[in-house]
Amino acid sequence: METLIQKAMEAREYAYAPYSGFMVGAALECGDGTVYTGCNIENASYTPTNCAERTAFFKAVSEGKREFRRIAILGGPREGLTDLSPCGVCLQVMAEFCDPDKFEIIMAKSGTEYIRKTLGELLPFRFSL
Ligand code: THU
Repeated sequence: METLIQKAMEAREYAYAPYSGFMVGAALECGDGTVYTGCNIENASYTPTNCAERTAFFKAVSEGKREFRRIAILGGPREGLTDLSPCGVCLQVMAEFCDPDKFEIIMAKSGTEYIRKTLGELLPFRFSL
């Protein structure tokens, strides 16, 4: 657990957040144990901004991964970490690929301080076709 959180912490260093100053890092563990990291990437036009969670998912999916076990996320202003839960858009992306009862979201404030929830707890309903 601490290793995954540490990887999210390292990814947060790459956050591109000149508009909000809110830096987020994520580390996504795939079914085969590999880890993809992500950070938020903002844009002057605001709407194209990509959250750290989606960056990690899109990196992994674009390299052929389809099975996921858990994701660690953390964020806050440059000076420190605050409470953080994934946004609705990121939860919908997770719901595309993950079992709501099994996939875990680890929301961390440090290596040892975190809250763990299943995807189903954070997103009890989802859109599907
Ligand atoms: N953000 C994330 O990267 N993940 C979240 O879970 C919530 C919000 C980013 C988007 C934006 O760059 C900044 O945090 C402030 O909303």
